[in-house]
Amino acid sequence: MKNIVIFGAPGSGKGTQSDKMIAKFGLEHISTGDVLRSEMKNGTELGKTAKGYIDNGQLIPDELMVSILASVYDSFGKEHKGVIFDGFPRTIPQAEALKQMLSERGHQVSAMIELDVPEEELMKRLVLRGQQSGRSDDNEETIKKRLGVYHSQTAPLIEWYRREGIHHHIDGLGELDRIFGDISAVIEAL
Ligand code: AP5
Repeated sequence: MKNIVIFGAPGSGKGTQSDKMIAKFGLEHISTGDVLRSEMKNGTELGKTAKGYIDNGQLIPDELMVSILASVYDSFGKEHKGVIFDGFPRTIPQAEALKQMLSERGHQVSAMIELDVPEEELMKRLVLRGQQSGRSDDNEETIKKRLGVYHSQTAPLIEWYRREGIHHHIDGLGELDRIFGDISAVIEAL
């Protein structure tokens, strides 16, 4: 079983590369951002709570995210080849909770793959996506807040996973296929 954390700042390409990983390796996929957006679209209580945080560029509280994550993970059953965690963890408490949740099931994170992209490029990609898709948090003001939250709360996970001995750094700027080749090499070596 290969459980992979795909990691990076907003706009670094986590979702784009996840699609390629699903197609090539037959992995399951949890995108916490997609789960929350679907709840928002359906107007559920969770969606209403999430909207306040997302539109302000802030993180949803850890306890809420951890309970969502465990239930989505269990929905894959026991026979899967592994899961891509996209957008989770985003804080050290979330990383600790993920480690514990997996270990209670006899599983573990096999690799954390960091997509490293310069900030100027992230802003360019997200502003463009906002213009094309209308995603409510892809406007310049909210993107700046999301990047601030990434630096203060999420980036410390790079060191956390380095200490776990499973951090892999990938240059996330450039051709999609070159980036995916680098990701594939990490997964194939597991
Ligand atoms: P989430 O949906 O996870 O958003 P994000 O991390 O901000 O990531 P994005 O979806 O914006 O970017 P991505 O890295 O997936 O890049 P993508 O492939 O789309 O979370 C949204 C919000 O939900 C959070 O702000 C928070 O409020 C909440 N939330 C979610 N998870 C949470 C958690 N665990 N705890 C608490 N709160 C949570 O690519 C971006 C664009 O770039 C696309 O248009 C793509 O086509 C383009 N692109 C991709 N790769 C390249 C390339 N190599 N060259 C050129 N363009 C490229």
